[in-house]
Amino acid sequence: MPRETFQLTGGAAAIYEQQKVKAIFRPLAEATLPLVNISKADSVLDVACGTGIVARTVQDRIAPLLPVTGTDLNADMIATARELTKDRSDAFQWHVADVTGMPFPDGIFTLAVCQQGLQFFPDEGAALQEIRRVLRFAGQFVLSVWAGPSRFFEALAAALARHVSEETAERSLAPFTYARLNSIPRMLQSAGFDDVTTRDLTIDRVIEQAEEAIPREIMASPVGPTVAALGPDVMARIVADVLESCADLRQGGDLISAQTARIFSATAL
Ligand SMILES: C[S@@+](CC[C@H](N)C(=O)[O-])C[C@H]1O[C@@H](n2cnc3c(N)ncnc32)[C@H](O)[C@@H]1O
Repeated sequence: MPRETFQLTGGAAAIYEQQKVKAIFRPLAEATLPLVNISKADSVLDVACGTGIVARTVQDRIAPLLPVTGTDLNADMIATARELTKDRSDAFQWHVADVTGMPFPDGIFTLAVCQQGLQFFPDEGAALQEIRRVLRFAGQFVLSVWAGPSRFFEALAAALARHVSEETAERSLAPFTYARLNSIPRMLQSAGFDDVTTRDLTIDRVIEQAEEAIPREIMASPVGPTVAALGPDVMARIVADVLESCADLRQGGDLISAQTARIFSATAL
């Protein structure tokens, strides 16, 4: 199967913001950024920024003197980021760009963060070299990749295999089963980074009102159109299976599933 590139279409970027950013990507950004040495003087790049949650969290918490920059391959993600920040447009710069060809001169950033993007880049070595290029000497790079599937996503993949296809189940797990996870420190060194440190961070994914939210979790992912094409009965069976498998994770109407991210920090040589 070709590498999953996590490209959302047809309004899914807005659902991504409403569902996935609230459930996991904002909590992950809020847990990761306090581990980073970051000040108002930093010039910050959010790589594969999606709807820009890392960039927005940096602005909310640190308010750097320079605008925070976000780049993503997906034009709908960037349009959503721009719309969400339209009242603070001087605080952000948003660009549609492939990570291997970002529209910046060498060495203009002091900090780059890539939250849950690396596992979708077809050429990780070229991507890491490009991130190194736009960082100045001794700039910091912080990267996060999921360290494995959570109980919720295991249950969802089992339901997709049952009601849709094995291939769809496998695609749904792509964010969590990155085959080169253990090679990341070596890849960073080959791309011109040093002082690589690694730590795991476990946070709760809170899927509020799970019965209604599970379809949004599916629709805000690349397998959404495949599942939706099979109609509402299939979606209802998938939701019922997941709720049954995750009964012990229910708290009232919510479903809470722990998920572990591996966080890598490195310094540009
Ligand atoms: C799981 S999302 C994470 C988004 C964001 N960092 C967050 O925390 O919400 C992965 C993102 O990687 C982006 N992406 C995938 N391949 C890319 C590439 N070659 N260059 C730039 N962005 C890419 C996707 O468009 C998507 O927005």
